[in-house]
Amino acid sequence: MTELKSYVRSLERSRRALTREDRPKTFAMAGREWDLLDGVFAPPFSATTGVALEILGLVGGGEPRFRSQGSFLDVGSGTGVIAVSAALAGCTRVVATDISLSAVKNTQMNAARHEVTDRVRVVHSDLFSALDADDRFDTVYWHSNFVLAPAEYRYETEHEAAYIDPGYQAHRRYLAEAPLLLTEGGRALLQFSDRGDLDRLHELAADCGRELNVLCRHAFPEGTETIEHILLEITVTS
Ligand SMILES: C[S@@+](CC[C@H](N)C(=O)[O-])C[C@H]1O[C@@H](n2cnc3c(N)ncnc32)[C@H](O)[C@@H]1O
Repeated sequence: MTELKSYVRSLERSRRALTREDRPKTFAMAGREWDLLDGVFAPPFSATTGVALEILGLVGGGEPRFRSQGSFLDVGSGTGVIAVSAALAGCTRVVATDISLSAVKNTQMNAARHEVTDRVRVVHSDLFSALDADDRFDTVYWHSNFVLAPAEYRYETEHEAAYIDPGYQAHRRYLAEAPLLLTEGGRALLQFSDRGDLDRLHELAADCGRELNVLCRHAFPEGTETIEHILLEITVTS
């Protein structure tokens, strides 16, 4: 395993982001101010949330990219920057979910701060488990915890779930279930990284009758390294 893909290294990144003395209570992103609660994935310490906003065309009045302006499901919403930005950019209905209760509270706070609580519903959920069974979306999206950890690893903090996925168990479920939540013509998207194991992800997709198509690539510096994020579309093959 390369250093980049090391789950131990990602756990160190998680611990550092959680305990840094300069961890702010608020931060600026995309021309707006946001609340950051303890224990929640911190966009100021990683370029990846900003990359997500760019990829989806959610900054600077940009054109919508790879998503519709209709209903948007943001899985793993963290602070809520993506979900709230989607509502502010004109998505008619946004549902945000996170497995972390702190992230759910944080997303609710930022939806209130930016006055979009009428269009953003926040649900404490393991992927789709707490959603209404018949709810469907034009876009389903997850900026995931793309680093593969051993299947037997148990999270020591909620925050670690923002970085690593033991055995890709959550990714497997996402690949299988996300396309089933779409409206006709809707898109199931996954923002993945070269910190993740793309070969393993393709194997899992094939196992559950799914195909992964790269919609776009976005490279950016992180410390001394160059990281690449890719936006994948999940389609049903069988
Ligand atoms: C890389 S962070 C992205 C956070 C936020 N979307 C952003 O871009 O700043 C991944 C998020 O997925 C959440 N997550 C991890 N496993 C999950 C699961 N099984 N169900 C729902 N959310 C999950 C984490 O708690 C974390 O908030």
